[in-house]
Amino acid sequence: QREKKRKQGANLLELAANFYRERRVMPEGRAARRYLEQRGLSAEVIDTYGIGYAPDSWEALKRHLDERGVSEAVQIEYGLLIHREDSGRTYDRFRDRVMFPIRDGRGRTVAFGGRVLGDAKPKYLNSPETPVFHKGRELYGLYEARRAPKRPEQLVIVEGYMDVVALAQFGVRNAVATLGTATTEEHLKRLFRLVSRVVFCFDGDRAGRQAARRALETALPQMLDGREARFLFLPEGDDPDDLVRREGAQAFTDRVTCAMPLSEFLFEQAAEGRDLQAVEGRERFASDVLAAVNKMPDGMLQSMLLEELAERSGLRQTQLETLLARQQARSE
Ligand code: CTP
Ligand code: MN
Ligand code: MN
Ligand code: MN
Ligand code: MN
Repeated sequence: QREKKRKQGANLLELAANFYRERRVMPEGRAARRYLEQRGLSAEVIDTYGIGYAPDSWEALKRHLDERGVSEAVQIEYGLLIHREDSGRTYDRFRDRVMFPIRDGRGRTVAFGGRVLGDAKPKYLNSPETPVFHKGRELYGLYEARRAPKRPEQLVIVEGYMDVVALAQFGVRNAVATLGTATTEEHLKRLFRLVSRVVFCFDGDRAGRQAARRALETALPQMLDGREARFLFLPEGDDPDDLVRREGAQAFTDRVTCAMPLSEFLFEQAAEGRDLQAVEGRERFASDVLAAVNKMPDGMLQSMLLEELAERSGLRQTQLETLLARQQARSE
């Protein structure tokens, strides 16, 4: 029964993805085609990512799915149809938007992200959580990155759909995006099963820097020996889409190569706003780094961070180890 429902759901999402793709090339998709052209997307990359258009209608998709025998209940369950309890009305969730299908590891469409053509709000609308879609698990572009001709050795985590697609168009095929949420432990576990290095590359704005700090916290427990995380900070006001269009692919990959190692970002964060000339400043600094080290799995990287902390704080490493053991005992 459950399996049958899952299949019906999967089928319905493919039907919807095809519908959106068809509408993009039809007369009603003209504004969407113009928008994609303005954003500089090539026909090839539009095809690779299956980008489509949801028409400006309250029930175009619903009628399409009704005709194919998909029940209203299933359309609602998979987030394509909205049902208003108060009025009893139903209507298509995505209207007059450029549609990005979100695919799971096997390439099956599990959800959509839709962007308005202009400046209306919300800029992006995503599918809700459904039986096949969990935001904290999926990464936009991961399926396409794995299918790229050259197997990626590292994956770059960016914020947006357009970032992934623009980078791919310029030949940078190893970017994936979180779906309007923070990077989760589950995201990182999935990525580290595929590659040993991930590079966080969020927008050069306040939200992006905040996202990087949160990503650092999430990454710490995942830092087993042999894994590497880096942080790439973009110029103020830029996102990867802007940057790759302005500077090109080589400049972007050069920046990725020079991205800041997790250890360096950690020390930089702990030092921020502190006077390391003063004992008190060094104490706060050491205490922050120690708390972070405490979140890491035991290993070489952990030991080496302690050694580095000893140098930078003036504390002896044996002393740091005692403090760490005490902290660990307390957090158990
Ligand atoms: N996002 C979202 N809902 C919003 C705004 C943003 O889900 N209302 C998510 C989208 O996945 C978006 C990402 O956060 O791609 C980054 O947001 P932002 O930087 O504002 O958008 P861009 O991807 O740069 O979009 P564009 O270039 O199309 O303006
Ligand atoms: Mn669930
Ligand atoms: Mn942003
Ligand atoms: Mn952008
Ligand atoms: Mn952006």
